[in-house]
Amino acid sequence: MSRRAKAKAATEAPTAVTDLTPAQAAAELARLAKEIAAHDRAYFEKAAPLVSDAAYDALKARNAAIEAAFPALVRADTPSRRVGAPAAQGFAKVAHRRPMLSLDNAFTDEEVAEFIARIRRFLALPESEPVALVAEPKIDGLSASLRYEKGTFVLGATRGDGAVGEDVTPNLRTIADIPARLEGRGIPDVIEVRGEVYMRHDDFAELNAAQAKAGKPLFANPRNSAAGSLRQLDATITATRQLRFFAYGWGEASALPASTQWEVLQKLESWGFVVNPRARRCADLAAALAFYRALEAERADLGYDIDGVVYKVDRLDWQERLGMVSRAPRWATAHKFPAEKAQTVVEKIDVQVGRSGTLTPVAHLKPVTVGGVVVSRATLHNEDEIERKDVREGDTVVIQRAGDVIPQVLSVVSEKRPKRSKPYAFPTKCPECGSHAVREEGEAARRCTGGLICPAQAIERLRHFVSRDAFDVEGLGEKQIELLWEKELVREPSDIFTLRARDGKKHPPIAEWDGWGETSARNLFAAIDARRAIALDHLIYALGIRHVGQATARLLARTYGTLDALLEALTAAQDESSAAHAELLAIEGIGPKVAAAILEFLAERRNRALIEHLKRELEVAAAAKPATDSPVAGKTVVFTGTLEKMTRAEAKARAEALGAKVAGSVSAKTDIVIAGPGAGSKLKQATALGVTVVDEDGWLRLIGGAG
Ligand code: IVH
Repeated sequence: MSRRAKAKAATEAPTAVTDLTPAQAAAELARLAKEIAAHDRAYFEKAAPLVSDAAYDALKARNAAIEAAFPALVRADTPSRRVGAPAAQGFAKVAHRRPMLSLDNAFTDEEVAEFIARIRRFLALPESEPVALVAEPKIDGLSASLRYEKGTFVLGATRGDGAVGEDVTPNLRTIADIPARLEGRGIPDVIEVRGEVYMRHDDFAELNAAQAKAGKPLFANPRNSAAGSLRQLDATITATRQLRFFAYGWGEASALPASTQWEVLQKLESWGFVVNPRARRCADLAAALAFYRALEAERADLGYDIDGVVYKVDRLDWQERLGMVSRAPRWATAHKFPAEKAQTVVEKIDVQVGRSGTLTPVAHLKPVTVGGVVVSRATLHNEDEIERKDVREGDTVVIQRAGDVIPQVLSVVSEKRPKRSKPYAFPTKCPECGSHAVREEGEAARRCTGGLICPAQAIERLRHFVSRDAFDVEGLGEKQIELLWEKELVREPSDIFTLRARDGKKHPPIAEWDGWGETSARNLFAAIDARRAIALDHLIYALGIRHVGQATARLLARTYGTLDALLEALTAAQDESSAAHAELLAIEGIGPKVAAAILEFLAERRNRALIEHLKRELEVAAAAKPATDSPVAGKTVVFTGTLEKMTRAEAKARAEALGAKVAGSVSAKTDIVIAGPGAGSKLKQATALGVTVVDEDGWLRLIGGAG
């Protein structure tokens, strides 16, 4: 899908499932599998969700609906059969003796009624037979499984992907709510107690305050901080975090102490666990729904995040008979709460520049408590979003927090708009460096064109500058660039080459820095010196001009030959009516978008200065101009089959050096096909189109004189 089509798909209502053609359904299932997997990774592995729970649930629901309508198209990697994400590296893996399941969701009362009706049908219960449920708050944390053998806590694991989790026993031992030994009566020989690790709002606020004081990154919400705290490789760090645990279930058990969910909860409590005090036994649907309403009203005052109610069939023999479908039990469901909302005032709209130059608007809010957590910022996504919602500074807005990384602005309360308010004007200049900020067709984001001269992007660009396919300076990676930047030793590429001359002047010599030493410093300077002679195309690529990748850099280098010729031609090309401009656009492989990006880059005085500074330090090798007198200059050639005298890469480089264009497929535009043994469809195609075909020797004879 093109960017524009994607943007469109994201904003338009999806096609009704019943209107999808099988091909559309298959394509959408593929897209959903990929997207949901990405969200799962962000959530489970990085503990940093990319979307709200509601948005995530919507994706899963859509996936399930399409699968129900097109059962034949269910993919092997369907997200509906996957729970969570694979265990992260660093912890030992634990295969769960019984899978740690997930829950199906219900969003409406009708869906809860249907959940009960399904149970009745499955068990063939008469209407007169009541189906008692246990209703428990659905804690927004992360689940853990605690194995007790003869009453002693021996192994604790995260859920992981539901089948295999991580051994976080030492970390779980630091949680006061988790007893090291069970006390009381009826303790089975083996029992895995399951429940939720979570963090209270007040502890979360305290942790973040400490993080801020230490200059460390803040946690986005209590759930992320619970996950981050539990998954510390060093359990002494976990011990400093106020984690808590509610027990609500079990995995493997040599025997169960009771015959209902309700009684087991009470047993768990009697053995020393904390069971949520709000859990209730509900005799029927009406009681369950009443519980839901009451809990929703209390939600903001609980002191910890919950995102719904879990209903579980009380009778364990029924649970047993009901069993599970793919990833979730038939005997339980999660009745979700809508996202928590609040009103507050937008004090200021600020635009942040990301490492790649994207301008992201952020609303600074008058701090407000949403569901117990203080919120002072919200994302506004992009320019169109602000315009669509007409969000202005001074406006009162409705914000929503749904376990998201940062909350979203839902809408403006127009009655509360101050008089004389003005629509927000999105900046067209980068707030960091003052360069033009442009929006390319079909793109939602406005982007700073400053690149290397923009402080927000410089580190990223410098990293690119020294990367493998650019200057390839060994020993100069992201970490080193960041350090040199912080010490204000490297601010633009040429600074890298003057580093040795300046070493020891502003700061102690690099050799004396922490983690360095004589040898590393010497090696670094040698690696830098080794790159003072550079091929023109590598230099062009290193500049990180938008849309100028390695191939375009090569085209430019080959067309203009030297850096001076390139600069001169592109200066002249700034005039759109010039011959130089026409020449730039005539280069095959350079379209108007790429040309515009190149010209824009060079139109910026500071970029030219940066190149001038580099010129002083470098010896830029001229690119071999295409030999226009070679017999293959300007010809399009295709290699197919096996080459015996040289590698494909070498043959390609040689052909290009002679001015030929090497294409990957045969078309009417192809001039010569070089076919080695094993050539197949391309050879057939060439013959069909009447294209000249030669073998490797024939090709070498053809270029021999010129090569
Ligand atoms: S029962 C066998 N009970 O919700 C069913 N889960 O969306 C599995 N959760 O993985 C869990 N509070 O992390 C259950 N009272 C509760 C819960 C609860 C929170 C979490 C748990 C589970 C997830 C499923």
